[in-house]
Amino acid sequence: MELLKKSKVLVDEATLDKKVSELAEQINRDFSGEKLIVVGVLKGAFMFMSDLLKKINLDTEVYFLKAESYGKSTESSGTVRITKDVECDIFGQNVLLVEDIIDSGFTMREVFKLLSERQPKTLKLASCLSKPSRRECEIDIDYLGFEIPDKFVIGYGLDYAEKYRNLPYLGYIEAE
Ligand code: IMP
Ligand code: MG
Repeated sequence: MELLKKSKVLVDEATLDKKVSELAEQINRDFSGEKLIVVGVLKGAFMFMSDLLKKINLDTEVYFLKAESYGKSTESSGTVRITKDVECDIFGQNVLLVEDIIDSGFTMREVFKLLSERQPKTLKLASCLSKPSRRECEIDIDYLGFEIPDKFVIGYGLDYAEKYRNLPYLGYIEAE
């Protein structure tokens, strides 16, 4: 837990809760009276997705997919592999992808490509965080929590070497 001592709070629990409520309200409004397939991108999205789902009052089904990129632990390499796919036919459905963070955008570009080929009725993206200064490919985020500076963040589902996902707030690690 050494790293935790060097971390600072970026977004606290109350601020996260308020933002998640706002996003859920928008989603409830946009899909009012419709069915929504919610697809979380493992593992990072699990906490944001869970909080969001508790505030969504639509007819929903919940699935997960897992995308992995080769490369260093804190950077996306641009080569993305889907290692667990959605277990339902999304053809003609309203699909909401839920991510923890859009960094380079490589992961989401591949996931979007894969899912849009299956011709859903709508394909939207909710992401808790975005680091626009790091973007390598353009990604439209329909429901965004927070734009953040180029810092490495942990907590609220996000990890550093698989640790700290369970922190109820978002922290960041100061460069040494
Ligand atoms: P991208 O493909 O570069 O957009 O990166 C996507 C994935 O990298 C995210 O879904 C996260 O799992 C991970 N990632 C990017 N930035 C951070 C960070 O600051 N902390 C933890 N994980 C991150
Ligand atoms: Mg992720």
